[in-house]
Amino acid sequence: MSAPRVMSTDYIEWAKLRAHARYNLATSGVMNFPLKDLGVSLDQLEISGPSFYGYEPLQQALAKKCGVSPDCVVATIGTSMANYLAMAAVIEPGDEVLIEHPAYDPLVAVAQYLGAGVQRFPRRFENDFRIEPAEIQRHVTPCTRLIVLTNLHNPSGVLADDATLRQVGEIARRVGARVLVDEVYLEMLATQSPPVTPRSAFHLGEEFIVTSSLTKAYGLSGLRCGWILARPDLAQKMWRLNDLFGNIPAHTAELLSVIALQRLDKIAARSAALLEKNRALLDRFLDSRSDLACVRPPCGTIVFPRLRLDPTAPVAARFSAAHALSSPACSHADNFFSLLREKYELSVVPGKFFEMPEHFRLGIGGDTATLSDALSCLSSALDSLS
Ligand SMILES: Cc1ncc(COP(=O)(O)O)c(C=O)c1O
Repeated sequence: MSAPRVMSTDYIEWAKLRAHARYNLATSGVMNFPLKDLGVSLDQLEISGPSFYGYEPLQQALAKKCGVSPDCVVATIGTSMANYLAMAAVIEPGDEVLIEHPAYDPLVAVAQYLGAGVQRFPRRFENDFRIEPAEIQRHVTPCTRLIVLTNLHNPSGVLADDATLRQVGEIARRVGARVLVDEVYLEMLATQSPPVTPRSAFHLGEEFIVTSSLTKAYGLSGLRCGWILARPDLAQKMWRLNDLFGNIPAHTAELLSVIALQRLDKIAARSAALLEKNRALLDRFLDSRSDLACVRPPCGTIVFPRLRLDPTAPVAARFSAAHALSSPACSHADNFFSLLREKYELSVVPGKFFEMPEHFRLGIGGDTATLSDALSCLSSALDSLS
């Protein structure tokens, strides 16, 4: 009997319904960029327009930004739809797909939804969550059609360099597979001081397909301005597939996206100023915690610390009755996340959503004063365990 078809992702449901809190460190992007700061006037906007297989000014703007020809660009509803279309265009039911571990859950869920057999290759905490090409080599088979990874890595924020990605491309080529790189966090390079222009893995070889959006680094999630970079024949296939789903995009969002792309340097500078302050707070916090082990990437909005909880200690018993979970099945880490939520009104992403329950993902893209208070709460909660 075949396995039931995966139709949902627990992580996204949790993020939409249960991540909200007074101190929300569960978000992974830079705080929302306000419309009033975009400098748009009403006469620049319209409700409907000539958007069929892309809106030409947006196609041109994305192509220019990515340094590719417009026929390699497929505009999508966020990176989410980009990932779906990219995978659906290259996977047949029964194909093998090799995905990093830990991973952003929807990447795994989409591959399963499409009927692929999903294999995993490890990115180890002990090795700073780096991609180890030897691990990929060990896990590919002649049936592997797609290798999937994120750069920067979600959840750790770690950057993969071109030399490593080239090796991944060579491994893929040898078995006739492609490499899908979700680069939604690569845009974070542009939010450093001084900024670095992100250079997509798309330029590294024929086997690379890339997805991204303006969502995370620029606080522009609401525009849903996503894209895929793929060779023109594959891009055509994705556009046609998109006819079944997105078909015609929201034109007002396209117009706003063109304007945002024209002003992206300014928007990135706002993110950079915020993240410089917030990273200093994060560094101070992590320096002060011997009970957390954390790989610290130099840029971006997310880190994935490991709790050094003593697994033999009765953690739940150390919480006040009001905050302890009654179920004995709950792990020590789960109890800690409950304490954070119930006593401190603070949320982080529990590592179980990334299949590493002793970790949690912490986002630093929010308001600086709130982050400062939130990190103090996190310290108090950790202190209460010692
Ligand atoms: C790796 C990764 N890809 C895609 C997305 C979704 O991006 P978008 O908002 O552009 O759809 C996220 C959001 O958390 C993500 O972490």
